Amino acid sequence: MNSSGGSECRPDPHTFRDLTGTSRFKGLGVVDKLRSIWMDGALVPWDEAKIHVLTHSFHYGAAAFEGIRSYRLDDGRSAVFRLREHIQRLFDSAKILGFKIPYDFDAVSDACVETLIANGLAEGYVRPIAYIGDGVMGVFPADNPIRLVIAAWKWGAYLGEEGLKRGIRVKVSTYSRYAPNSAMTRAKVTGHYVTGVLAKKEAKALGYDEALMLDPDGYVAEGSGENIFIVRKGVMKTTPLTCILPGITRDTIIELARDLGLTVVEQRFTRDEAYIADEAFFCGTASEVTPIREIDGRPIGRGGMGPITHKFQSLYFDAVRGRAERYAKWLRSYETVPDISGLGQRPAKASAP
Ligand SMILES: Cc1ncc(COP(=O)(O)O)c(C=O)c1O
Repeated sequence: MNSSGGSECRPDPHTFRDLTGTSRFKGLGVVDKLRSIWMDGALVPWDEAKIHVLTHSFHYGAAAFEGIRSYRLDDGRSAVFRLREHIQRLFDSAKILGFKIPYDFDAVSDACVETLIANGLAEGYVRPIAYIGDGVMGVFPADNPIRLVIAAWKWGAYLGEEGLKRGIRVKVSTYSRYAPNSAMTRAKVTGHYVTGVLAKKEAKALGYDEALMLDPDGYVAEGSGENIFIVRKGVMKTTPLTCILPGITRDTIIELARDLGLTVVEQRFTRDEAYIADEAFFCGTASEVTPIREIDGRPIGRGGMGPITHKFQSLYFDAVRGRAERYAKWLRSYETVPDISGLGQRPAKASAP
């Protein structure tokens, strides 16, 4: 407030706080401001992408969302990785929440690509979120409108470049993953992430990189934003789809393994089985394939990236970057045009999948 009691000097709290280069959390995913965000059918300038404070999902956590990555290919084009599967999960999540996204599958897929192109992102992270708008307040959302927003930004290695190379330190969380009937865990829903946020904060406060949550019976479930694989005596194991998010990267790893003739056992395992694994890794769209080098102070294997994790990390990056013809089926290519003016939106060219 200024001396005359006016408010013109106050920063607009609804304008994006551009922390580029200033935040001490810069390496941890601070988002740099870009040009535009897709809202309810059209691209709007970044700072105008606002929602009302009485948005139903903001109060009750019932919004379906996705996290999708695109990568630059070796031939100079770009591609969104497994866009179809992400959009399918978005629609599935909305169905589980009992609402209908007011756009069809192709329109949402195209809008994701359009958002990347409009922001000149040859590589980026895309975040569609379908939510219940304002109208009725109270837990029953009645016929409040369903809205859809798609943002995209630059995101580096989610668990750090160092983590990707050397592995991360993980702590078994005091917070459990939801029981199957406490939350609809097949759905990627904002409200489900409260436990993840608490678990991650706890792990970070204790000096670890990530949390590993157990299921309500005490078996290993997943990280705050990743699925987990362990390897012992050459056998790969991952948690079954009981109370974890059905990760698209998890599915990718299982397919890559099958194509190599390896079997992945989808079976519950205990935290001590993870302690004595030869290798362990997290996987997810954001975290890609990140080796786990330690769990609760116990080194996993030799305490670095093991050979099988290394193999799958390389295969994964080959697949997302279009270096493996066999997995071209997972790529939806697009092109960005270099920004010569530095102004406004860039001319765009999208190519068919
Ligand atoms: C809780 C949780 N588990 C697993 C994953 C991995 O899922 P995906 O590979 O589809 O990104 C994510 C990421 O979205 C997640 O948030």
